[in-house]
Amino acid sequence: MKLKPGFIFVTSLLFLVTSRTELSEGHSFGVDYKNNCFLKDGAPFQYISGSIHYSRIPRVYWKDRLLKMYMAGLNAIQTYVPWNYHEPTPGIYNFSGDRDLEHFLDLANQTGLLVILRPGPYICAEWEMGGLPAWLLHKPNIILRSADPDYLQAVDSWLAVLLPKMKPWLYSNGGNIISVQVENEYGSYFACDYNYLRHLHTLFQLFLEDTFLFTTDGNTDSEMACGTLEGLYATIDFGTDTNITKAFQRQRRFEPSGPLVNSEFYTGWLDHWGDNHAQVGLEKVSQMLDDMLTLGASVNMYMFEGGTNFGYWNGADYDTGFRPVVTSYDYDAPLSEAGDPTDKLLAIKNVISKFRAVPEGPMPPATPKYAYGFVTLKKVGNITALLDTLSPQGPLRSQYPLTFEEIKQYYGYVLYRTKLPRTLEDKTPLISPLNGVHDRGYVLVNGVFQGLLERETILVLNVTGKEGDTLDILVENMGRVNFGPYINDLKGLVSNLYLGQDILSDWLIYSLDIDGAIATGWPHAQPQHTDPTASSQDCKGPVFYMGTLEPTGLAWDTFLKLRGWTKGQVWINGVNLGRYWPQKGPQQTMYVPGPLLSTSQPNNITVLELEEVPSDPRVLFMDRAQLNRSTERS
Ligand SMILES: *[C@@H]1O[C@H](CO)[C@@H](O)[C@H](O)[C@H]1NC(C)=O
Ligand SMILES: *[C@@H]1O[C@H](CO)[C@@H](O)[C@H](O)[C@H]1NC(C)=O
Ligand SMILES: *[C@@H]1O[C@H](CO)[C@@H](O)[C@H](O)[C@H]1NC(C)=O
Ligand SMILES: *[C@@H]1O[C@H](CO)[C@@H](O)[C@H](O)[C@H]1NC(C)=O
Ligand SMILES: *[C@@H]1O[C@H](CO)[C@@H](O)[C@H](O)[C@H]1NC(C)=O
Ligand SMILES: *[C@@H]1O[C@H](CO)[C@@H](O)[C@H](O)[C@H]1NC(C)=O
Repeated sequence: MKLKPGFIFVTSLLFLVTSRTELSEGHSFGVDYKNNCFLKDGAPFQYISGSIHYSRIPRVYWKDRLLKMYMAGLNAIQTYVPWNYHEPTPGIYNFSGDRDLEHFLDLANQTGLLVILRPGPYICAEWEMGGLPAWLLHKPNIILRSADPDYLQAVDSWLAVLLPKMKPWLYSNGGNIISVQVENEYGSYFACDYNYLRHLHTLFQLFLEDTFLFTTDGNTDSEMACGTLEGLYATIDFGTDTNITKAFQRQRRFEPSGPLVNSEFYTGWLDHWGDNHAQVGLEKVSQMLDDMLTLGASVNMYMFEGGTNFGYWNGADYDTGFRPVVTSYDYDAPLSEAGDPTDKLLAIKNVISKFRAVPEGPMPPATPKYAYGFVTLKKVGNITALLDTLSPQGPLRSQYPLTFEEIKQYYGYVLYRTKLPRTLEDKTPLISPLNGVHDRGYVLVNGVFQGLLERETILVLNVTGKEGDTLDILVENMGRVNFGPYINDLKGLVSNLYLGQDILSDWLIYSLDIDGAIATGWPHAQPQHTDPTASSQDCKGPVFYMGTLEPTGLAWDTFLKLRGWTKGQVWINGVNLGRYWPQKGPQQTMYVPGPLLSTSQPNNITVLELEEVPSDPRVLFMDRAQLNRSTERS
C-alpha cells in the first residue's frame, strides 16, 4: 500500500500557519487555514474563475473574450500552458504571435482579471498528447509523467525557460498570477510517483518563490491520494452530476482546513468524433454554482470559453477505445466557440451577482457573423501526383516502417510506399496484425484508392495488383492520446504490415510538409496547375481541392460547412482550420475567425479530402455553427 508521505505531519503543521504568503507592498495571496478561505492582501477572498485557453483562440480575439468574462462577473481566469505549443523541437521555443503567453497575461491584467496558471508540464486539456511534446517519444519507452531521468531532464529545461518568464506576472511581483497548479490530475495517472511530484514542487518553488501552489484531482480517494503532496494545496474537480457535499467532504479529508475549491466545474463537455453533441443544461450549472458559492467555495468553471482545436492540436481519449476529439472545443460553454455570449452566460452572471458586484455596463455583443455563401472548388491533384511538392526532400528508405516520431514529423500526414512483392490475382488481405496503423491509413495501389486501415476498427483490407505495383498508405495522426496510461502514443505505421503471409518491407517514407507548402502560396500561386481530370476512380482517395472566396469588403466571422465531403483538413489563407468529418459528426461546421479573411484579396481555400469528394464539390460559408449532427439542415 502506498502511503502519502508526510500527510499526517503536514496537516497538523498547517494549523500553526495562517497565511502562507506574507509580502511587501500589500500584494499577497495565500490561505487562511483558521477561517477556511483565501487571503488576498490580507482580506478574505473567494475566486469565481473561468477557464480559457489562449492556444484555442486567435490572438486578435483574446481581449474580446477576456472582457466578456470580466463583464460576466468573474474575478479570475484559469489557463493551461501547452508545452508542445511552445517547444516544437527540443530547445527551440516559440512565444510569439498566437503563442505570446505574456501578451495574454498582460491583456488579462489590463482587463482586471487575476490568473490561475496551470503550466503542467502535463495538462490533459483534450490537447495533443496532453500538452507533452511528441519528441519526448524519441525514447519510445520513456515513462512520461514520472521521475524517469529522460523525462525529468526535458521537464527541467522547459520549466527553466517558462517559469522565469512568469516571475514578473506573479501577484507578489505586481502581476496577476495568484496561484499555480503543479501537474494536472496526477492522481488519475497509473505511475503515482511521489518523487516526480516532489521534483516538480522543488522546481516550482525555486522559480516561483512563495507563490501559492496547488494540485487538482478527480473526485475519488485514489485519485486524491496519488495526486496530492505535502506542501501543495489539494483541490478537487467535479461537474453537475456530483453531490457537492460529498465532493467537498473528500477534499476535506485531504485538506482538513483552508478554502474549498472546485478547480474544474464542468459547464459542458467535449465531443469525440462519433459522439452525440454534449450539452449541459444552464439550470443545473447555475444552481450548482450558486450552491458552491453559498458554501464559500472558490470555483473555476471549465470551460468558460472553449475555442477551437485548430490545425492538428486536438487530443484523443483512450478508454473504450481510441477516441479522438473533434475540432471544435465549444464545450457547450457560457461563451460559444466563436466567443458569443449565450443564455448560460447570462444565467451564470445572475448567480455571480448575488455574491459579488458584477461590473456595470453592457456585455460586449457577439462578433458579427456573415454567410458568404457557396464556393465551388476545383481539383488540384491527387496525393501521388503532388508528392514532389509536398515532400520536396524526398523519401527516407527503411526496411521496415518508421514512426512519425522516428522521422521527426510529429503531426499531420506521412506517406508510406512500397511495391507489391508478387502478383495478387485474388483479393489478398493487407493486414495490420498488431493494430499498428496509428491512426488511419488511406491505401492506394498504383494511385487507385483501395480503402482504409484504421486503428482498432479496420485491421484487414483486401487488395489486388501485380508484382511491382506501387502500394501507398497515407497515414493520418488523428491526435495523440491526452489522458490515461496510453499517452506514449506513437503515430504512423508503428508495427509491420503483412500481405497475406508476407511481411512488407523496403519502404520509402515521405514526410509531408503540407502546411509548409501552403505557407509559401501553393497551390494558389500556380492555379494553371489545377487538374481537369475527373475520372470516376479519381474522386476516391486523398486529393487536394482549392477555391477562392472573393473579398466582400467584410472580414466577419463565418462557419464553413463541407456538406457531402467525407473527411479531411482545411486551410484558409494558409491557416490550418483543423479537421472536418461530417459523416462521423457530430460537428458539421468549422469556425472561421473573421480576421483570417482578407477584404481586398481573394481568400484562398485549400482542402485535403482523404476519402471521397462529392459530385458537386462546393463548400458553404454560413452565419451560424452546427455542432450537433441531429440539427443538420439542408
Ligand atoms: C511561432 O508561432 C507563431 C504563432 O503560431 C507563428 O506565426 C510563427 O511562425 C512561429 N514562429 C516560428 C519561428 O516558427
Ligand atoms: C497589472 O495591472 C495593474 C493594475 O492596472 C498594474 O498596476 C500592474 O503594473 C500590472 N502588472 C503588470 C505586470 O503589467
Ligand atoms: C448529498 O450528500 C449528502 C451527504 O451524504 C446528503 O445528505 C444529501 O442529501 C445529498 N444531496 C443530494 C442532492 O443528493
Ligand atoms: C477478402 O476477400 C476474401 C475472398 O474474397 C473474403 O473471404 C474476405 O471476407 C475478404 N475480407 C475482407 C476484410 O474484405
Ligand atoms: C491567395 O493566393 C494568391 C496567389 O498566391 C495571393 O496572391 C493572395 O495574396 C492570396 N490571398 C490571401 C488573402 O492571402
Ligand atoms: C493522379 O494524378 C495523376 C496526374 O494528374 C494522374 O496521371 C493519375 O491518373 C491520377 N491517379 C488516379 C488514380 O486517378
